[in-house]
Amino acid sequence: MEREQLQALLADMSLEEKIGQMVQLNASFLGNNDTLITGPMGTVSVDADEVKLCGTILGTAGADKLKELQKQAMEGQPHHIPMLFMMDVINGFQTIFPIPLAQGCSFEPELAKQGAQIAAKEAAAAGLHVTFTPMLDLTRDARWGRVMESPGEDPYLNSCFAKAMVEGFQGSSLSEKGRISACLKHFAAYGYPEGGREYDNVELSERTFRQDYLTGYQGAVDANCRMAMTSFNSLNRVPSTANRWLMRDVLRGEMGFDGVLISDYAAVEELIPHGIAADKREAAKLALEAGVDIDMMSDVYLHYLKDAVEAKEVDEALIDEAVMRILTLKNDLGLFENPDKDASAEDEKALILCDAHRQAACEAAVKTFVLLKNEAQILPLAKEEADGLLVSGPYADSRLLCGSWSFPSTYDNIPTIRERMTEAVSGQKITFTEGCSLFYDGEIVKDHTMEGMNPEQMEAAIAETVEAAKKAKNVVLCLGEYYTQTGEGSSRTSLQISQNQMELLRRVSEVNENVITVIFSGRPLEMTEIEALSKAVLYVWMPGTEGAKAITDVLFGEKEPTGRLSMSFPHRAAQEPLYYSRFQGGRPRTPQEPRGFRIGYIDIEYRPYHSFGYGLSYSTFNYSPVSLDSSEMTANSRITAKVTLTNTGNRRATETVQMYLRDVSGSVIRPMRELKGFEKVTLDPGESRDISFVIEEPMLRFVRMDMSVGSEPGRFEVFIGADSTTENGTAFVLK
Ligand code: NOJ
Repeated sequence: MEREQLQALLADMSLEEKIGQMVQLNASFLGNNDTLITGPMGTVSVDADEVKLCGTILGTAGADKLKELQKQAMEGQPHHIPMLFMMDVINGFQTIFPIPLAQGCSFEPELAKQGAQIAAKEAAAAGLHVTFTPMLDLTRDARWGRVMESPGEDPYLNSCFAKAMVEGFQGSSLSEKGRISACLKHFAAYGYPEGGREYDNVELSERTFRQDYLTGYQGAVDANCRMAMTSFNSLNRVPSTANRWLMRDVLRGEMGFDGVLISDYAAVEELIPHGIAADKREAAKLALEAGVDIDMMSDVYLHYLKDAVEAKEVDEALIDEAVMRILTLKNDLGLFENPDKDASAEDEKALILCDAHRQAACEAAVKTFVLLKNEAQILPLAKEEADGLLVSGPYADSRLLCGSWSFPSTYDNIPTIRERMTEAVSGQKITFTEGCSLFYDGEIVKDHTMEGMNPEQMEAAIAETVEAAKKAKNVVLCLGEYYTQTGEGSSRTSLQISQNQMELLRRVSEVNENVITVIFSGRPLEMTEIEALSKAVLYVWMPGTEGAKAITDVLFGEKEPTGRLSMSFPHRAAQEPLYYSRFQGGRPRTPQEPRGFRIGYIDIEYRPYHSFGYGLSYSTFNYSPVSLDSSEMTANSRITAKVTLTNTGNRRATETVQMYLRDVSGSVIRPMRELKGFEKVTLDPGESRDISFVIEEPMLRFVRMDMSVGSEPGRFEVFIGADSTTENGTAFVLK
């Protein structure tokens, strides 16, 4: 449709009809009985006539079903406007990729783009039009449960992933086959709640907010992301969903977002308990004035906007503006001409979990694993020695490998480590034991009573594994968090795996010195004891549908782990919030004065246990000192920084070369390191390659004392190395 036709349509719509377009209900309101419920049902009560006017639906998929729902919806609409179907397709639709935090660890945005493309194809075939991703909340506190949904703690890395994911979902045109709209979320700064407590207030200075927190979202806006979602939190005591400055001035005005803004689930109604709206009518007014186009899962717009307009409390022009944006999105998706878009049962059959998609998910998983320790090069394991291998732990034979924002229609499609390893060593016999259950029977995790072993069974399982470990040459223990321990509503104060799993590890490591621990998790955990008791540690996050194959390939050396941490790991949870790009402070620690009146704690090291960017490979690399082609630069010139990288081991391997900058002195204090470039390089044993990074003035800009953005002349340090702690650096001057 041409824009004039959309305008004519809008002009012909009644106020009720327009408000209907601004309402999103979940599919249960259409009588759909397999609706994915991703939030509280709240106080929503609507009658059949009201449902008919509703413009968007969330939480169900399936080509034939959505075609039928679309047909009914359009018949019931006075202007036969097609419905938008939305869902959380986060790290895959049915072929599940590693969780986004793991994807961040690949340092390979292209990988996220491919994953998004595949997810979009599967989701589009199943009739969906919009996914609620990418999540770009900067995550600097591992206690917060939703760190698993973000690429991690670094603004630059997040913005690279943001762009890649939006491009992967949307392609160059939404109406293309196999494309769906992305939705950046959660605007804004949801990732930094006080104390890591889910849904709590976020206090951030405007400088830090602008400097670090907007960058990821901006990446998605620049990639033309067609939707955005408000966040549940209040930012500096103003709930985002009612924050006119944040949504209209910052998101739309400064950042240039011109798509549809949707509230998070029931967030408009939640303005009342937040204490910023006295009642639903005021909530409706505040959210509309803030620029929220769609009210997700509350009846506030539906039941209160009309009266407010008629009483002249809100301007109908705001409603027209919102509806025009929604109609434009429907039009960009081509729904007026083709309301079913790509919904096709045949395509669903051909695409969902097809070999190519599974293969891509497997390759992606391999690239997200982070090798944290590998003493005496115990990994990779020799397949020929599989007879002497014991594999144990709650994840050794588990299908729950996908993370909390994945909704596989059946878990039968997800092979276990036991299955994949057995296939890989045909003819030999690996010994498998259960080791322990994740929790004791009856333990409560996030409102669910867990099934597991009782204390006697647990002791027997551990004892059986200890006996088997005595006879084994090597032991692989597959341990971790349960998948609901991260994700929405899953903040924790402890960053440890369950004590029974620790007991298993402690006792096995007493009788076998070759313990290789594989950790499944959606967040950084406390790894100090686990690493001390293990010869090798492989962190595999929640690796997805083909995680087991990827783990098998990496353990046996068919593939090498190339991931690098995109979130720093603490020694202890009490160090959180924690991130690498901190300040030196007025009293930095020095080798001469490591403690005393110096920054940090008296009882533990204050820096991360593993800092951002860290990860090992099966080989070793050497970096030459950094050289610059000039030691001075101006606003219009550029400097090239170069290192020579050499593979000093005896395997072909991949290194992630990282460049960090430091502005030594500015009108406000500047971080000790900021990531400004990275490149993954694969080299044969003994091979060397020159790696260079171009440094230009825009990379040196920051939010200055007077809140303007720009660079300041002076000395800058440039570091190029294997992670954010590298001291391999030199300096230049900006004139
Ligand atoms: C609430 C979550 O915060 C958001 O990320 C998600 O997209 C919506 N629920 C819809 O499920």
